[in-house]
Amino acid sequence: MFEQIHLGFVGGGNMGEALIKGLLQASLVSPDRIHVYDISSSRTRHLRDSYGIRPSREIASLASESQIIVLAVKPQNMHQVLADLRGHLAHGPMVLSIAAGIPISTLVSSLPEGLPVVRVMPNTPALVLSGASALSRCEHVTDEQMQTALSLFRAVGKAVEVEEKWMDAVTGLSGSGPAYILLLIEGFIDAGVLMGLPRHVAAELVLQTVEGTVRMVRETTRHPAELKDMITSPGGTTIAGLKVLEERAVRGALMEAVRAATSRSGELGRS
Ligand SMILES: NC(=O)c1ccc[n+]([C@@H]2O[C@H](COP(=O)([O-])OP(=O)(O)OC[C@H]3O[C@@H](n4cnc5c(N)ncnc54)[C@H](OP(=O)(O)O)[C@@H]3O)[C@@H](O)[C@H]2O)c1
Repeated sequence: MFEQIHLGFVGGGNMGEALIKGLLQASLVSPDRIHVYDISSSRTRHLRDSYGIRPSREIASLASESQIIVLAVKPQNMHQVLADLRGHLAHGPMVLSIAAGIPISTLVSSLPEGLPVVRVMPNTPALVLSGASALSRCEHVTDEQMQTALSLFRAVGKAVEVEEKWMDAVTGLSGSGPAYILLLIEGFIDAGVLMGLPRHVAAELVLQTVEGTVRMVRETTRHPAELKDMITSPGGTTIAGLKVLEERAVRGALMEAVRAATSRSGELGRS
């Protein structure tokens, strides 16, 4: 799929680097076909020295050499990047933006007409090649191009296609999700410490419990409630713990957290 494709990254920060690392590890593309333009030359130097990619001195040369261009700059820098790119896209590359909150309509209206544009919401575990990304396309993206875009993000984890109307919900769920899980992990570790366990022991047990539980849900494909019932013996320890969580309405709190983040994403997108 990627054999002849040259990929250009505008912005080689955390996310740009994670994607480059994933693509190289998955052997989807060779380093000499990855071009990076970053306003900070120390970033391009670092990426060249670490991965052997090709730094571009100007956005124009990156654009003209690439069939796929990934825009991996912060949302506040996107306006400038789109303006700089606009005049160098006559060859019709696919453009992917990972900037949070920038709608497809803004991207499409800032670029030459008819260009295939994909909006992506990745999340931070992409930095360790375990991300969850959702992708939405504009009307000019063919099924084949969408498969190519999905493969790119599958190199750094899982990726699904969603309609753009779900992007705020995706942002509230998987985009912000790692922060919620980290808060739970931190809380469990502190709980172990409260019970007198050394911190490093508590941390090891909690991390393995979280990782193992995720794996159990995936591998058995059984409903989480069913797996939970298997651990919850009558009059036992687990039901005593679960009763507290239900009394404190943890499930409702999770729903409200995702609702709040989704609505905040909508507000930020409109502004
Ligand atoms: N990190 C995440 O977990 C995450 C999750 C979901 C979505 N995203 C999205 O991913 C995008 C990138 O995030 P990041 O964390 O990778 O940011 P980052 O580490 O700040 O990387 C962005 C890079 O782009 C450079 N840059 C700024 N203006 C530029 C321009 N005009 N042309 C070329 N390069 C320019 C920056 O240089 P300077 O530092 O010198 O400005 C920086 O090296 C953001 O839009 C964010 O919304 C990130």
